[in-house]
Amino acid sequence: MTDDILTMVIATHNTGKLAEIRNLLKDYPVYLKSLLDFGPIPPVEEDGATFDDNAYKKAAFTARVLGVPALADDSGLVVEALGGEPGIHSARYGGDGLTDIERYTLLLRNMKGQKNRKAAFCCVISIAVPTGPALTYEARCEGRIAESASGENGFGYDPVFFYPPANQTFAEMSISEKSLVSHRGKALKEMQKEFDNVIRWIRQQMPVQEKFKCEGAISC
Ligand code: IMP
Repeated sequence: MTDDILTMVIATHNTGKLAEIRNLLKDYPVYLKSLLDFGPIPPVEEDGATFDDNAYKKAAFTARVLGVPALADDSGLVVEALGGEPGIHSARYGGDGLTDIERYTLLLRNMKGQKNRKAAFCCVISIAVPTGPALTYEARCEGRIAESASGENGFGYDPVFFYPPANQTFAEMSISEKSLVSHRGKALKEMQKEFDNVIRWIRQQMPVQEKFKCEGAISC
């Protein structure tokens, strides 16, 4: 690794997210690590009031603990007729220990008979340096809650998220079709478009490491 290449850690254990991010940043001079490359670090409590709060918490905590710039994302499904739920609670909707199928089945039950089926997936990406400052990117993907689940691809609420321009649920679309229009895909694209500036910003924020040369008989 040369001094010219910046190291950044992606604050996730999710190999799918990691592959997506690595693919978008493959042409940039940045060495991407993930939490899988480090020993265990304490979990971050996602108790913020917004996606933004939680993405920043994850990125800032990881950057501070590991001493390198960190990128984190927080995402979820916002359903208009449910007052924005599950929202930031998407991963835990209905309680801990439910499967994805049990969660979206609960969502369908709570939407039964509901005429207003408008929903959006939201994603916030935060890039933080160990001293605290961060950059933020966010995007939404508008759709509707289907009457029933359909499709086998994807994860989470994909089988019940109907995307009208494709006339399909996210789970009926391929991963690459979904990435072109999804909340996460769009937020990552925004970040990718100005990644040269992101690298410049990170370099300005990172403390300069002083180097000492050891000479003569002194052992270092
Ligand atoms: P997190 O951002 O990894 O905390 O994910 C929040 C939760 O939102 C996930 O566990 C999923 O239930 C849901 N979610 C986020 N993005 C998607 C998506 O692209 N498809 C389906 N569900 C999603």
